[in-house]
Amino acid sequence: MHLLVTGGAGYIGSHTCVAAHAAGHTVTVLDNLCNSSAESLARVERISGRRPRLIVGDIADRAVVRSVLDSEKFDAVIHFAGLKAVGESVAKPWEYYQNNVAGTLVLLDELRRHEVFDFVFSSSATVYGNPDPANLPLRETAPLAAVSPYGATKLWLEEVMRSMAAADPRWHFLLLRYFNPVGAHESGLIGEDPSGIPNNLMPYITQVAVGRLKELTIFGNDYPTPDGTCQRDYIHVCDLAEGHVAALAKVRELPGCTAVNLGTGNAVSVAQLVASFEKAVGRPLPHRYGPRRPGDAAACWADPSKARELFGWTAKRNADDMCRDAWNWQSRNPNGYRGA
Ligand code: NAD
Ligand code: UD1
Repeated sequence: MHLLVTGGAGYIGSHTCVAAHAAGHTVTVLDNLCNSSAESLARVERISGRRPRLIVGDIADRAVVRSVLDSEKFDAVIHFAGLKAVGESVAKPWEYYQNNVAGTLVLLDELRRHEVFDFVFSSSATVYGNPDPANLPLRETAPLAAVSPYGATKLWLEEVMRSMAAADPRWHFLLLRYFNPVGAHESGLIGEDPSGIPNNLMPYITQVAVGRLKELTIFGNDYPTPDGTCQRDYIHVCDLAEGHVAALAKVRELPGCTAVNLGTGNAVSVAQLVASFEKAVGRPLPHRYGPRRPGDAAACWADPSKARELFGWTAKRNADDMCRDAWNWQSRNPNGYRGA
């Protein structure tokens, strides 16, 4: 297939470019590089021997989107482009609605004009809000709720796609709800490269390990979980990338709009992830326990059986693999792509 991958220079996008190349697809990336660097695609070329064509532009810029779609015929789109920091979305809600919602509406409008109707969307487990423990593991039918402007953008876009699919049977939408993507390609050439101090657990851990940050604070050890720390469904980014390729193979067969969890189905606590990381690195990670982070759910993990049934896909890599590969990336690239 010839794929248009928006946000393809980013963390999940770059790993998906590698998986798409391995499956024989051709990739064109549309990315404004607001949270990434073209270096990631140079690294993709080093891994897969092919470099995606990069168009530097914004999905909200109709002229750019139109010219991309005029210039080539695409079989399907994977739509990663978006802003993703929950805290920032609370401080800058307009920017999140403009970038994620308004930008995606422009993209969808131009796609229907160009009759490209197969669309894979980066949704998130955030659409389940703060889940009721009675609903764990989460199935796609669990109640949905937005607990931040970021979450609202994902929820609203899911709703837009559901309505558009109901109105026009030519659309095939896959709403892939990612749990907690972590890790990096085993080569250590591509990985997660957050700007500023990371908010998320794994990049915080790797930056402590590499000496950029002093110590990890584990937010809360008094949750109603086996060891008192929060549980999440961490998924290796390469499993996630392969999930996209498996989804693409089925997108045209699935009518309308289909939501699918991409997770492992395993609940891993913060303390367990820290222990896995210490094993991978072979030394203790400086950490201490602190108060709970406001808004955190005690536990959130997926029932991934729908992805297995529909796509024949399951995650293969465990927490030790995630930690080993995250560390391999961070230790080879202590300053991310900026050191390149
Ligand atoms: P990322 O920031 O690394 O990648 C997003 C890419 O989109 C970046 O390269 C950025 O430059 C680009 N981009 C942003 N706005 C754009 C715009 N208006 N026009 C063109 N390009 C634009 O993030 P990621 O972790 O790779 O996430 C990819 C997608 O997956 C996002 O939509 C995110 O919300 C979703 N998601 C991520 C996670 C996660 O934990 N990483 C979890 C669930 C869902
Ligand atoms: C975050 C996003 C969520 C997104 C999900 C998947 C927030 C508030 N939510 O959720 O929208 O869907 O990622 O990518 O950002 N932790 C620490 N110390 C730290 C950092 C984190 O103990 O320095 C803990 C957190 O309390 C949490 C766990 O680690 O229990 C995972 O945190 P994080 O990586 O931020 O992911 P989520 O909170 O699951």
